[in-house]
Amino acid sequence: MKSDKEILQIAKEASKNAYCPYSKFPVGACALFESGNIYSGCNIENSSYGLTLCAERNAISNAIAQGEKTKLVKIAIYSPKSTKCFPCGACRQWIQEFSMGCNTEIILENEDLNEELYHINDIFPYSFKLI
Ligand code: THU
Repeated sequence: MKSDKEILQIAKEASKNAYCPYSKFPVGACALFESGNIYSGCNIENSSYGLTLCAERNAISNAIAQGEKTKLVKIAIYSPKSTKCFPCGACRQWIQEFSMGCNTEIILENEDLNEELYHINDIFPYSFKLI
């Protein structure tokens, strides 16, 4: 199982692939599942701005498309433009969906360049759930 430091490093690498000519705000994410499998993603912007895909949802989409079925245990998020790059509201809803009740850890890099840990239930309470 990869460490928090390792998945943050993979998120950093993924941010280098960001396609963000409009915002110039690269983001990378690395999702770690209970299986031990990891999947990374970067943000992908579009000239039709609203079609932009965030790094976190790209990473989770990669996981699901590759057949991942286990719980999303951790997700590391990184932007070279900002410390503590918190997930947006839409990504929080996605993280909650695939946490499957395990209170996914959110790993961010803080001002001291150390990993800082949050939990989805703390940053996204009272979320919408159908089941
Ligand atoms: N972005 C992400 O990739 N993840 C988030 O959670 C918030 C924002 C991206 C979208 C856009 O390409 C850029 O950051 C600026 O909003």
